[in-house]
Amino acid sequence: MIGNNAPVWFGGDYNPEQWPEEVWADDVRLMQRAGVTIATVGVFSWAKLEPRDGEFDFAWLDRVIDGLHAGGVKVDLATATASPPPWLSAAHPEILPVTAEGVRLGVGSRQQYSPSSQVYRQYATRFVRALAERYGAHPAIAAWHINNEYGCHVAQSFDDESAAAFRVWLEARYGSIEALNHAWGTAFWSQHYARFSEVEPPRAMPSFPNPTQVLDFHRFSSDALLECYRAELAVLREVTPDIPVTTNFMGFFKPVDYWTWAKEVDFVSDDSYPDPADPLSPAFAAMTRDLMRSLRGGQPWMLMEQTTGAVNWRTRNAPKLPGENRLYSMQSIARGADGILYFQWRQSVAGAEKFHAAMVPHAGEDTRIFREVTALGAELSTMGDVVGSRVASSVAIVFDWDSWNALEQAASPAQLVYLDEIMSWHWSLRALGVTVDFVEPGASVDGYSLVIAPALFAVPRSALETLAAVPARGGQLIVGYQTGILDENLHVQQGGYLGPLQAALGVRVEEFAPLAGPDLRGTGTAPVPTTAIRFGDTVRAASVWTELLHADDAEVLATFTEGLAEGSPAITRRSASGPASGSDAPDAAGGTAWYVATRPDTATVYELLLDALGRAGIRPLLDGKNPDVEVVERAGTRWVLNFGRAEATVTVGEDTVTIAAHDLVRLPVA
Ligand code: GLA
Repeated sequence: MIGNNAPVWFGGDYNPEQWPEEVWADDVRLMQRAGVTIATVGVFSWAKLEPRDGEFDFAWLDRVIDGLHAGGVKVDLATATASPPPWLSAAHPEILPVTAEGVRLGVGSRQQYSPSSQVYRQYATRFVRALAERYGAHPAIAAWHINNEYGCHVAQSFDDESAAAFRVWLEARYGSIEALNHAWGTAFWSQHYARFSEVEPPRAMPSFPNPTQVLDFHRFSSDALLECYRAELAVLREVTPDIPVTTNFMGFFKPVDYWTWAKEVDFVSDDSYPDPADPLSPAFAAMTRDLMRSLRGGQPWMLMEQTTGAVNWRTRNAPKLPGENRLYSMQSIARGADGILYFQWRQSVAGAEKFHAAMVPHAGEDTRIFREVTALGAELSTMGDVVGSRVASSVAIVFDWDSWNALEQAASPAQLVYLDEIMSWHWSLRALGVTVDFVEPGASVDGYSLVIAPALFAVPRSALETLAAVPARGGQLIVGYQTGILDENLHVQQGGYLGPLQAALGVRVEEFAPLAGPDLRGTGTAPVPTTAIRFGDTVRAASVWTELLHADDAEVLATFTEGLAEGSPAITRRSASGPASGSDAPDAAGGTAWYVATRPDTATVYELLLDALGRAGIRPLLDGKNPDVEVVERAGTRWVLNFGRAEATVTVGEDTVTIAAHDLVRLPVA
């Protein structure tokens, strides 16, 4: 990732401009005490480094970087373009972003630029060139950190320049206005366009916007941010071709398609703030780490930001309890990270984030947080053997940003929550001690013996064909409801729902019957409606979804017992070798395809997964009984983590271990 024979990187965002210079020497002293090896410098320094248009003041940053270097701390140098200085928007108010309602956003916060603003990009790249020329040869610089969390606050802007850039993007995508009319289905509601100049971004409008227009504006906006990144990258490649480059991602971040972005960074880095008050946080964090590892095909990644304690941006900000900081850090290492960094080094005394925890808290070094940081730094310094090693997985979940966007659009059957659909599978696999990779739709899945496609709602037909080939080549395939419904233009799949997966699964979907309730999207105030399915001799609970399904060429494993779908198959299985035999005998050599038309209860999901894993030749390492515990293998070690607030005794493969609350054990891989 960064450097050869490097340790596990350890450090955080360092914002020395918030402090008088006499604190800087103390910072380096404390960094050495804490085992800090790298500091991310300059993330929000533009206004201090270019205080007036074209006037650069690098002298103070020279002293900061020289001081870190003398102290043996490497620098991940930020390009500082995430928060333009006030003089820039005062001179060029047109760079300020505009909301869908037409509100121009103001100065006094951060990220106040329209991604399509050419003026912003010109000033940003001029600044980056000056920075790169100044520090490109400095021996402390280990990496470039372009901008910060692209799209975090302003993922889309509806200003006139963005509208013009959107039209250029559409023309490049469709070639002709008639092709756009076809893709967007503008015969509906009299939306036909005569020329590109008539097309607008989906600004606030009277009723449901055109769904494909909305999706294209999402795609365009992700690309517009990517153009900002590329503009800076081009300067850095020219001036400092040997320094690796990254930009910090935000886990499952809907507005930006990280499959596209990850191809353009030298290593993936991620910012991660699981809520300690949410019992699902460890499982969600695990899923996020798996995505980060998967974005560049298993390449080690960097946890660029996390917090030592509480954040300040939730309504009520629970701190990480003793041990949790270490545990989330080790979870990242186990799931492929080579670096553990924080926002931020020293807790601010002013500004909007003064109540956000840091490595050095307001209360100073004689604190539990600084002691935990120091202990972790010491522990990580002994773990150089993990650096660069890969995490193996034979199970893949298909993850798709377009499906996420389309599934959650208004005017759809139930506005399902895409991440819930993904997590309902990942959660169970994690609890069974099975490591999961994510894959992009259409990418080769030949290396995986079990592939799962939950709610893969809107993908090109070719992506469904790739999945249909899995059972045909002897692999195991599980397809969840709301897969293969639309194509990449959000038209209903040709040949009906599921498209080419119909034959592989041996089923046909006739009609959706989602389980509705007053609060299906879940604000936490109303229970999710449930239904029942008959599975063998037992009746099991299921939730979220039912549908009228026909299993023309598949074995029916479970049947809906009530509602519109009563009597209709709820879970089916088809052997690739031919029509269902009715036999339950696992056939490890044969391919199998399951279709799951509801969200079954956990016990049923486990049974289904154990059947599929068995056929795939994958042995689960855990029994699923304690979802507070997870296990991952990396670098010859089984990392067994207990996120529970109580001691846990679990059997991991052949070993039975007892793990204290918020602790871990490391076992050799058998
Ligand atoms: C993000 C930003 C940081 C800081 C933290 C607070 O990760 O990159 O600058 O605002 O959030 O949690």
